[in-house]
Amino acid sequence: MKVYILKEKDINKRVAGRFIRLINKKENPVIGLATGSTPEGVYNELIKAFKKGIVSFKNTISFNLDEYLDLKDEKYSYRSFMNEKLINHIDIKQSFMPTDNYDDLIKAKGGIDIQLLGIGRDGHIAFNEPGTDFDSLTHIANIAEMTRIDNQRFFENGDKVPERAITMGLKTIMHSKRIILIAFGKNKADAVAKMINGPIHKSCPASILQKHPHVEIFIDEDAASLL
Ligand code: GLP
Repeated sequence: MKVYILKEKDINKRVAGRFIRLINKKENPVIGLATGSTPEGVYNELIKAFKKGIVSFKNTISFNLDEYLDLKDEKYSYRSFMNEKLINHIDIKQSFMPTDNYDDLIKAKGGIDIQLLGIGRDGHIAFNEPGTDFDSLTHIANIAEMTRIDNQRFFENGDKVPERAITMGLKTIMHSKRIILIAFGKNKADAVAKMINGPIHKSCPASILQKHPHVEIFIDEDAASLL
């Protein structure tokens, strides 16, 4: 695990740079994308680079980590979020959200070259909440209460965060060739410390990343404050 402690805007630039280099080098790049507030800055950098002609996504395929189930309104879906924050602004070839046989589909497309991740306050990655099996592939998961509270800010007019989602499993994520995890802010510090220094244990799903051969963790000083 390589850990970089930097300012948020430098993290966004560096991480976007990693994706741009991959996309400019590889014939058929496959990228793994995440939702949440954390990756928005990276997506803005990617859009800027595309508009300047520094990168084209015309041969790139993306796979998102997770998607809500049982939504009352499509506007809350991670599909809508991704379209608004990135996909509608670039020339990407194909962009997938989790479905049945997602692991087979990812494999058929050559596997994920770089997977982008955020982390939840309870140490979740994608919607793999504490207790999730390290051997899990894409599956339907229950969203933990803490996560539902944290994600409530994206919902309006009394609409509630769903209780279920479809998510890449921990093994799906570990199959990625490279992983980049980003975290900002003091409220992530505890999860970040457990992920990096804690035992590899189901109580902190992100701790499994210690076993991956090519992981980079980009955090700001607040998220690094308990290291
Ligand atoms: C959500 C997503 C995760 C994301 C996490 C952190 O529940 N399923 O993939 O990493 O929460 O979100 P944020 O970046 O908004 O803090």
